[in-house]
Amino acid sequence: MTGLSPPVDVFDMVIFGGTGDLAYRKLLPALYQRFADEQIQPGSRILGTARDTIDDVEYRKRVADALGRAGVAKDGETTKKFLELVNYRSTDATTNSGWEEFGKFLHAAGDRIRVFYLATSAAIYVPICEHLKQLGLTQGEVRVVVEKPIGSDSTTAAAINNAVGRSFDESQTYRIDHYLGKETVQNLLALRFGNALFEPLWSAEHIDHVQITVAETVGVESRASYYANAGALRDMIQNHMLQLLCMVAMEPPASLEADAIRDEKLKVLRSLAPINANNADHLTVRGQYRAGATPTGRVPGYLEESKLNDTATDTFVALKAEIKNWRWAGVPFYLRTGKRLAERVSEIVISFRAIPHSIFGASAGPVAPNKLVLRLQPDEGVKLWLMIKYPGPGGLRLRNVPLDMSFAEAFGVRYPDAYERLLMDVVRGNQTLFMRRDEVEAAWKWIDPILAAWRADDNEPKPYTAGSWGPSAAVALIERDGRTWHDEQT
Ligand code: BG6
Repeated sequence: MTGLSPPVDVFDMVIFGGTGDLAYRKLLPALYQRFADEQIQPGSRILGTARDTIDDVEYRKRVADALGRAGVAKDGETTKKFLELVNYRSTDATTNSGWEEFGKFLHAAGDRIRVFYLATSAAIYVPICEHLKQLGLTQGEVRVVVEKPIGSDSTTAAAINNAVGRSFDESQTYRIDHYLGKETVQNLLALRFGNALFEPLWSAEHIDHVQITVAETVGVESRASYYANAGALRDMIQNHMLQLLCMVAMEPPASLEADAIRDEKLKVLRSLAPINANNADHLTVRGQYRAGATPTGRVPGYLEESKLNDTATDTFVALKAEIKNWRWAGVPFYLRTGKRLAERVSEIVISFRAIPHSIFGASAGPVAPNKLVLRLQPDEGVKLWLMIKYPGPGGLRLRNVPLDMSFAEAFGVRYPDAYERLLMDVVRGNQTLFMRRDEVEAAWKWIDPILAAWRADDNEPKPYTAGSWGPSAAVALIERDGRTWHDEQT
């Protein structure tokens, strides 16, 4: 939010995987925005590194192209100044090649905040961390940022955490989940704990159920080899969606301190009722898209797009989770996410209980239960659905109408990308919006038995047509409980 962000101290940020998709698409554009907003001071340095043997000039050219593609580049002067901060050194994580030069570059600036962003495959985290340790770069005001996926189950996640932990301690480790950097997710904290209105209603006594949807229209695109080993359960549910669930369900933390929040989220994860071979069939639905049409036109199915003969990967998951504690006992949390769905929309729907008794006659129309809808994207905002009287004479007719707060309209500002906020938090040393090791491992402990149940099941993910809302079984999952997925249009 332009103009409201105090500058951070001068820092060096190293992006491992500096020529990769995440760097070009997200990290460098986010740093650019923070620079244009004067939150990053001249004197800070950004160092891209990867195996490609290119020089600063070529890298800057590629970064300039990436900024153009991301549509962030403002004026030529700002871009020129930003590119002056950008450097490149080639390194090979698996050999000693390039590391001496790399170390010289970093040591030349003396003691300052150093951020090492591991935007690479987890397979090379260990050698990277070892090189950094050998170069004496792991002490002092140093932070390491670890991207998801952190492992593919609890065993591999623990191995990655142990490996990173040999060079960096927990207070230096920032496990990023970019969903926590989204404005609406932080607004959930503001809404729940900055208002007296909601918290008294925030329990099984008044809430009937919660829905969390993250629907995408994109397919797997160029990430098929990663995605085939992940699937939607690992790619989205284990991290982003469980984090959203935690933010909705956690007890009020004592403060905004990182550990105060993370302790509460951990308790939620540990209270999730297990889903395993006994009930996975009833509580989960997996799907895989087939050719169809999305708002942007006709698209191929997953098998053609990935060019893999892989009928086992889930590109869609819907599930019904339950939190076994006093606050939430009996309140289902329905989660669904998928690629190639009808619309790009991410939202959290808190559906309140129906009124206990209606004083209105049939002519007033149905009285719908209240809903609080937190929209994460595309247009961030909050809507509180209320029953009101339709204006005018002609009897008392009721309508379900949203009290609508679109953030961009309300504040008239550009909403920053999640990475902008999170990268600056790393520099500032604020871990509140990052996952602690025990959280990641607790999330995997809940996911592992679901994966095991699916593996043991002879059935494959159910096909769904691209451009639909997923397999019909996902509709049945919620409708057999007498509820429906929230739909603005109805
Ligand atoms: C990433 C997943 O973490 O999140 C992608 O790996 C997914 O598969 C993306 O597309 C969604 O993020 P956003 O911010 O576009 O909703």
